[in-house]
Amino acid sequence: MSSAIYPGSFDPITLGHLDIIRRAAALFDTVYVCVMVNCEKSPLFTMEERVALIRASVAELDNVQVESCSGLLADYARDKGVRVLIKGVRNATDFDSESQMAAINRGLWPELETLLLPAGASYRHFSSTMVREMIRYAQPMERYVPLPVAAEMKRKGWS
Ligand code: PNS
Repeated sequence: MSSAIYPGSFDPITLGHLDIIRRAAALFDTVYVCVMVNCEKSPLFTMEERVALIRASVAELDNVQVESCSGLLADYARDKGVRVLIKGVRNATDFDSESQMAAINRGLWPELETLLLPAGASYRHFSSTMVREMIRYAQPMERYVPLPVAAEMKRKGWS
């Protein structure tokens, strides 16, 4: 059985993230999407909200499990016995920071490999930061985030 972990802060999940999840789910028997803490960002959605929004967004993907972890990614992966991390890269800046994180994670657990998937052509300019910016201006969200996320933003009166 092949497994991979797709970690991120997902604040919130975007259509770009969903594209990576779908592509990873076609490559591996099981994909664990793990909502984690990025200590450089202060989140808009709680961890529980982010997990619930991702679960609703991947409901049709049988081999995707959504979890959260507030510890180190390398420890989470080792505890699960999963040696592959998936990351999406949109540009050279992403490539540099993901290469650095891959080296840090391998330093923590040498068996842990990071596979970088290029972002889908339509999603190269997508980011959770951009979505949070659009919320400030009450923009329609359907073109950036999965429908359950857009619906939740409407319910909160944010779009
Ligand atoms: O979606 P993001 O914010 O780019 O994801 C970054 C994330 C959450 C994957 C990264 O910050 C992370 O791995 N956090 C967990 C703590 C950890 O293991 N840090 C060391 C690796 S850099």
